[in-house]
Amino acid sequence: MGKDTVTIINNATGQQVELPLMRGTHGPDVVDIGQLYPKLGIFTYDSGFKSTASCKSGITFIDGEQGVLLYRGYPIEQLAEKSNYLEVCYLLYYGELPTKEQYDHFVGMITRHSMINEGLRHFYSGFHASAHPMSIMVGVVGALSAFYHDSLEIDNPRHQEISAHRLIAKLPTIAAASFKHSIGQPMVYPKNKLPYAANFLNMMFSVPADDYEVNPIHAKAIDLLFILHADHEQNASTSTVRLAGSSEANPFAAISAGIGALWGPAHGGANEAVIKMLEEIKDAAQIPKYVARAKDKADTFRLMGFGHRVYKNYDPRAKIIRKMAYELLATTSGNDPMLEVAMKLEELALKDEYFIQRKLYPNVDFYSGIIYKAMGIPVNMFTVLFAIARTIGWITQWKEMISDEGRVIGRPRQLYTGAAQRDYLAMEKR
Ligand code: SDX
Repeated sequence: MGKDTVTIINNATGQQVELPLMRGTHGPDVVDIGQLYPKLGIFTYDSGFKSTASCKSGITFIDGEQGVLLYRGYPIEQLAEKSNYLEVCYLLYYGELPTKEQYDHFVGMITRHSMINEGLRHFYSGFHASAHPMSIMVGVVGALSAFYHDSLEIDNPRHQEISAHRLIAKLPTIAAASFKHSIGQPMVYPKNKLPYAANFLNMMFSVPADDYEVNPIHAKAIDLLFILHADHEQNASTSTVRLAGSSEANPFAAISAGIGALWGPAHGGANEAVIKMLEEIKDAAQIPKYVARAKDKADTFRLMGFGHRVYKNYDPRAKIIRKMAYELLATTSGNDPMLEVAMKLEELALKDEYFIQRKLYPNVDFYSGIIYKAMGIPVNMFTVLFAIARTIGWITQWKEMISDEGRVIGRPRQLYTGAAQRDYLAMEKR
């Protein structure tokens, strides 16, 4: 038996198979189980894929035990301190940090693709004013493929790149227009002279009737939050994009599927759910009651913004956002009582045996909503901002999947637990 193999023995039949062990740059080795069913006639079972690597990827690495997050090998803490969102987009998509010339060209491309087709603008009038902006995002992003027939050859690297540029550039415009529609204001067009995050805030908050000055502290905070949300390995929405894309659907349809998956409160919808939870808790005196509810198996209440499938340590992004929340609130609107409640909740939970034993720490969503709220961004737009930021991760992961020579359509199997085969019974005999 080779050192680079794993032997599986089926004790029920005595059959065994040697399977290859594969080693990556960082992280656990993986066993390639491709020959398990052909050789032993059995499937693996891993509900929620807690121990399953769905693909090889060179984009993002997470060490959940150590609280490490690398984008193309660079620690998130360094990128958060030294980079900006569009430079991180370049790094994620092309795999290397850009030279000045490459960066300027890339920023120019994104800037010039930020407008949306006027036909798309008319979509918004079809949505009910009370529509959740995430429902508009799912619809409008999915419909982008109806406008770009010129670049939908999924195996053409240039078409992949054009689609990536269009998505990175247009998501903020589509998102801000979703917000404007929900408050009955006209869509604001992007301004090429504004940097990416400032352009988004201008489209969100300016009105035709008045001048508007973007708050530079807010623009910097948004740019940093976008960096922190840009990619995160094979999370639920990214896995959705990969699976949808594996059928050779166009990238806009695949990203629209990812937006739908992100919306759930167990995933990207948690940032909206955290604020609703903190509003319900209201003051620190109520915290013990809610912590007790979160521990009570009979109660469906969970501490939103706590826990993570991979991080069994403090989410490195949450650490950065927590610091930013404190600084931003201190420099702008003054301490928000909600931040006090959040920090008290964190303090109590991290001392509680239930959370310690289960390694439940604040995740990226625990503090981000407090910052968005301090900037006047409405709660129902929080997950939309997550979607804007994650678009680069989704389209990069989609490109990596599509470009994989060994690409096959994703098609998991199952353990069937339904009725045994039986014959149809005439109605009168039932
Ligand atoms: C994101 O995957 C990613 O990378 C996602 C993300 C990204 O960037 O793409 O990081 C973004 O989605 C962050 C997570 C946002 N979601 C939330 O904050 C929602 C609240 N958190 C939980 O729903 C939960 O922690 C999950 C969904 C995040 C993770 O769930 P797991 O890994 O499936 O954990 P689990 O359900 O197996 O829980 C293990 C134990 C259970 O108790 P026991 O059965 O062992 O007694 O921990 C408990 C759970 O009941 N638990 C919680 C809890 N989270 C887990 N108990 C109370 N409050 C919580 N938040």
